[in-house]
Amino acid sequence: MAKGFFISKAVAGTCVFVAIAATATIIALSVVYSQEKSKNEVLPTIDPSITTTTQLPTTPSGPKEPWQQYRLPDSLVPITYHVTLWPRLEPVADNFYIFSGNSKVVFKCVKATDLILIHSNKLNFTMFDNFHARLSGLNGAEAPQIKKSWLEVPTQYLVIQLHGSLNPGNTYELFTEFVGELADDLGGFYRSEYYEDGIKKVLATTQMQPTDARKAFPCFDEPAMKAVFYMTLLHPHGTVALSNSMNYDPVNVTVEGHDLIKTSFMATEVMSSYLLAFVVCEFTHIENMDTGVLIRIWARQKAIDEGQGDYALEKTGPILSFFENYYNISYPLNKSDQIALPDFAAGAMENWGLITYRETALLYNPEVSSNGDKEWVATVIAHELAHMWFGNLVTTRWWNDLWLNEGFATYVSYLGADFAEKTWNMTDLIVLNEIVGVMGVDALASSHPLSSSEDEILRPEQINELFDAITYSKGAAVLRMLSYFITEEVFTKGLHTYLETFQYQNTVYQDLWKHLQMAVNSEGISLPNTIEEIMNRWILQMGFPVVTINTQTGQIMQTHFLIDPDTPVDRPSPFKYEWIVPVTWIKNGAAEKQFGLLQKMLQTLTLNCSRLSTKPEDIPVINRAQIIDDAFNLARAKIINTTLALRTTTFLDKEMQYMPWELARRNLNYFYLMFDRSEVYGPMQAYIKKKSSPLFEYFKDITSNWTNTPDSHTDQYNQVNAISMACSTGVDGCQELVTNWFKQWMHDPSNNSISPNLRSTVYCSAIAAGGMDEWDFAWRMYKNATVASEADKLMYALSCTKQPWLLNRYLEYSLDPNMIRKQDSTYTIVYIAGNPIGQPLAWDFIRAKWDYIYKNYGSAMSFGRLISGVTKRFSSEFEYKQLLQFKEDNAGQLGSATAALEQALETTRANVNWVALNKKQVYDWFISQTSTR
Ligand SMILES: *[C@@H]1O[C@H](CO)[C@@H](O)[C@H](O)[C@H]1NC(C)=O
Ligand SMILES: *[C@@H]1O[C@H](CO)[C@@H](O)[C@H](O)[C@H]1NC(C)=O
Ligand SMILES: *[C@@H]1O[C@H](CO)[C@@H](O)[C@H](O)[C@H]1NC(C)=O
Ligand SMILES: *[C@@H]1O[C@H](CO)[C@@H](O)[C@H](O)[C@H]1NC(C)=O
Ligand SMILES: *[C@@H]1O[C@H](CO)[C@@H](O)[C@H](O)[C@H]1NC(C)=O
Ligand SMILES: *[C@@H]1O[C@H](CO)[C@@H](O)[C@H](O)[C@H]1NC(C)=O
Ligand SMILES: [Zn+2]
Repeated sequence: MAKGFFISKAVAGTCVFVAIAATATIIALSVVYSQEKSKNEVLPTIDPSITTTTQLPTTPSGPKEPWQQYRLPDSLVPITYHVTLWPRLEPVADNFYIFSGNSKVVFKCVKATDLILIHSNKLNFTMFDNFHARLSGLNGAEAPQIKKSWLEVPTQYLVIQLHGSLNPGNTYELFTEFVGELADDLGGFYRSEYYEDGIKKVLATTQMQPTDARKAFPCFDEPAMKAVFYMTLLHPHGTVALSNSMNYDPVNVTVEGHDLIKTSFMATEVMSSYLLAFVVCEFTHIENMDTGVLIRIWARQKAIDEGQGDYALEKTGPILSFFENYYNISYPLNKSDQIALPDFAAGAMENWGLITYRETALLYNPEVSSNGDKEWVATVIAHELAHMWFGNLVTTRWWNDLWLNEGFATYVSYLGADFAEKTWNMTDLIVLNEIVGVMGVDALASSHPLSSSEDEILRPEQINELFDAITYSKGAAVLRMLSYFITEEVFTKGLHTYLETFQYQNTVYQDLWKHLQMAVNSEGISLPNTIEEIMNRWILQMGFPVVTINTQTGQIMQTHFLIDPDTPVDRPSPFKYEWIVPVTWIKNGAAEKQFGLLQKMLQTLTLNCSRLSTKPEDIPVINRAQIIDDAFNLARAKIINTTLALRTTTFLDKEMQYMPWELARRNLNYFYLMFDRSEVYGPMQAYIKKKSSPLFEYFKDITSNWTNTPDSHTDQYNQVNAISMACSTGVDGCQELVTNWFKQWMHDPSNNSISPNLRSTVYCSAIAAGGMDEWDFAWRMYKNATVASEADKLMYALSCTKQPWLLNRYLEYSLDPNMIRKQDSTYTIVYIAGNPIGQPLAWDFIRAKWDYIYKNYGSAMSFGRLISGVTKRFSSEFEYKQLLQFKEDNAGQLGSATAALEQALETTRANVNWVALNKKQVYDWFISQTSTR
């Protein structure tokens, strides 16, 4: 039934190239090329290649007592919670804020036990007769007396030992009263601050995922412990309280002499504790009910007044409707609140009915924000709304299946955003934004499989470490691949029955496979393998294959694709690093004809890439892009010569499209990272200058001397590439252009006429060329910015200066919350490390401050991103040794950076080898390209 890829001659041409020389990127290509046609055939593996003989790690013997174990016992299940919380928005001592509260949890006993374990972290309890809680029986059940209660800090439990046993079938109620700190730590119930008209405002908000609901009130804090929540918030006059469900009318109350508002919320649906949210703030909102669901966008008064919430409001309804159609299930709630918070660690959080966002992920101002900012808003909204069903209505049982939840939401966020913005080519952009990037990580021997077993993921740090690129982006890549090869129609059919069957319950990923298989079977599609057999190879082992076809014999071979084939793969795989590759174009049936064609094309292509260099437009854009990326990846893995990869960039002086340029730029960026402090730099600059000049002229022309904005989304992106490459390589007229723009703005700070799309790169180029005046001006504008995306652009541009003392000062600012918000510390340091002059400064800085960072930035920073960002230039033995030393010095306090550090060691090792092997030939190649005109 499948027609394969050979739809047009042009496509065939690229397939050939890829099949022969560049199939490293099979995840990407099996989906990239399949844009052309849907398909449903699967190729079984043919040649075994790498085998490993490593032993499976043995699990250390576990602790003895139940309260020393990180997982809850299965004796009790929660049914309802009644929780009242009162956050104090005024400090009770110098810069010290608290909240107080009480909670009544009704739970059912399913196995006899004389022990109650309930999660609780950093809460101080009111004691009742020397115990932390009061227990009573419901419906005539008698509650045993409490024998002993205490807080078990390492495992974050309130432990209650009883004199007698709780009996199966009975329900009980546990009452607690407690006080916690309303800290600025971005986790649990925390506070965020901002200034409006010079007045400091404090708000209280939450981030529970994954394990911080227990920091707000005692709860059975595991995703499978679903319950109904009745929330009540006490809050000052002038503030509004929000939570997952709609509120009843607020009432005035007096508590301990304070006149307050009491807002109670309706019962939530049955849900997991990590999806709870509550906010007390002075925000205002806009709303509509166009789709029958109340949609509200909440933000700072100023932001709403300036219309920054309008775009989100306009797109939420359509995206919600899109997902209702896609899942064929109506939105499970009757309201959707979305709120933009000044301090927020992640991008956004899918709390059911009350989605929380970083400001840049929800707010958009056309006068100031770029098209990239707009795309970010659309995709993040789509991602979070996708979770309202997948993740919230149906939830995976334990964190080890996080990849399914996040990979899925990431994949379909592009479908939702594509629906909202039909001209953006979002379904192509997923390849750039998610798939290409993660392949670099997954091609390391220190990568990890998507799926882990439940008992590998126990401690909160282990859970936190799962929130990485593999989980989100590779998860998205493999689900997209699956959807493409069984067809989207069948995929959504299976998805529908999966969601319907398990609504309000929990699943494991195999449940989804089962439902997709049922859909496949019911459509009468025959696959050579089951979905589970195919997918196991993509999720239970790390990495992906490079597939090689012998065009003479038609024989197909696969090997594990590794960026550095010299690094041993220690991690064993149940499938010995073989994959089942769902691509029809290698299939036997049509093979002969196809291989004949392959061979013919091969001769033209591998000789001198003549199709590319003569008529690039014969080949579809995305495939031109793919060729470049594949070639560079294969060269990294020493499968082809680096100079052959570089040759794929020779046609760029005729290329005006975004995707090929973007992938070329990213791949060449690796050359910059490795060589921008060596003699290769000069000839490389000369080459890029030569290739990017025509692009710069092209955009100058189509924008009438930079006065218009290009029409298409991707052209807008490419205009940025044109300017940034032209300015950084010294193309005539570029630096003057941007410096002038920046000067005009400095001259009249109230009139910034720089086009929003170009601001990031213009600011960066101007600050790089400037000195203290430019920097200090940008800093003032950063602190004064009322639009978060504008602040972000300045925050980035400040890292572009070439003055070491400014960079060092900026590093100091990064750990001072009065200067840089905690949510932005990681970004700031990583940006500085992206600057060749800043890189060693940033590395020295984090080494010197690691102790402090580790203790103070736990929930706020992504340690993994920090480590990989600061070390990505490492390419010498000396740097490798420093990294090892760092690992030794900080053993025991690396937390969620542990895996990233291993990856950094491996990447550094690979870089050392790569530079040794390639420096001379790369240097010679750039020289040959620039001297012979
Ligand atoms: C609640 O108190 C506020 C402020 O004191 C007052 O403006 C409002 O009218 C009161 N509402 C009711 C229903 O009493
Ligand atoms: C949502 O449902 C509840 C209970 O059915 C109802 O009281 C409430 O008014 C509804 N809210 C909206 C916005 O429709
Ligand atoms: C975007 O999509 C349109 C139509 O869907 C297509 O004509 C165009 O070539 C695509 N652009 C890119 C850059 O792929
Ligand atoms: C752009 O500016 C140049 C001079 O700087 C002028 O010669 C040219 O005509 C202008 N082009 C357009 C399209 O405005
Ligand atoms: C703002 O600056 C631009 C460029 O310098 C200038 O053309 C424009 O007239 C200025 N607008 C105002 C209101 O001053
Ligand atoms: C700060 O921003 C306000 C408006 O956003 C503007 O009026 C004021 O001039 C700015 N201050 C400085 C120092 O630029
Ligand atoms: Zn998500």
